[in-house]
Amino acid sequence: MPEQPQHLIDWKYWGDEEVEQILALARFVKHHRWEYQGHMQGRTLVMLFQKTSTRTRVSFEAGMTELGGHAINLDWRATNFTLSKIAFETRYLSRNAALIMARLKDNADLLEMEQAASVPIINGCCNLYHPCQALADMLTIAEHRSDTRGARLTYIGVYNNVVNSLVSICAPLEVNLTLVCPIRDQDVIDEQSRERLLAKGLLTETLDAKAAVADADYVYTDTWLDMEFFNDPTHAAEKQERCDIMLPYQLNRELLGDSRAMIMHDMPIHHGYEIAEDLVESPNSIIYDQAENRLDAQKAILLHLLHEQH
Ligand code: CP
Repeated sequence: MPEQPQHLIDWKYWGDEEVEQILALARFVKHHRWEYQGHMQGRTLVMLFQKTSTRTRVSFEAGMTELGGHAINLDWRATNFTLSKIAFETRYLSRNAALIMARLKDNADLLEMEQAASVPIINGCCNLYHPCQALADMLTIAEHRSDTRGARLTYIGVYNNVVNSLVSICAPLEVNLTLVCPIRDQDVIDEQSRERLLAKGLLTETLDAKAAVADADYVYTDTWLDMEFFNDPTHAAEKQERCDIMLPYQLNRELLGDSRAMIMHDMPIHHGYEIAEDLVESPNSIIYDQAENRLDAQKAILLHLLHEQH
């Protein structure tokens, strides 16, 4: 029987040691870029997008190019996924591609792909998780202070898919995470990962944003509304409601006060909403480092899933 492929849906499904190893690999790959040049030679990554993207699209494609492989971009709407079963289309893709990265709206559809695939499936961000972003975030922190252990990370925003993956990756990497989340959608929160981080004594939840910022090495924020709906007039009322709740929690100089914390954001940035524009380009901002690190974090994921890490 052929060996079952390993997938990346979220870090919660990986062992702690394996998460530590992949972060170490990402750091190594970044500093030995050209040693991995031919490791994906002759291999194709299919990138399937149901939603828009800048970073995920560019960094996966650039990563495959630098590793000597090839990436095919598929817009869901231009494929026959719109006509057929996810399982049938995925089984076909597995015959021509070595890996599939999918940005799907619904985690249930991603799990259907995972069941059908005979090659690794990588979650490029679904409604519940964004594991590639979380690894890039940890790479950024690890580079900045040489180790993730003991880092104090405060996230201010909506409890969303980015938070779920941060919560799951902070457990093995021993990051102290403080969440300031006035909006908590119970359908999105991964309680299992949350309980795990709480049990490890690594999770604090508060609505006192000023205190949470004062204690932080890193302050992270993200969109208040799913990017899919941000400019959608049918979600205008929800957007307004969320803005009314969240505006007092905007990341700005007044909130930061004397804090020397580094500023993080996974992009795209909605300046004037979750973050004030001047902070994006401020000396404490490591936002572009985070975005750049998607490349090496994902190269590590590609290499690991195809057992090409050496
Ligand atoms: N952070 C992130 O996933 O960026 P894109 O939506 O541009 O891919």
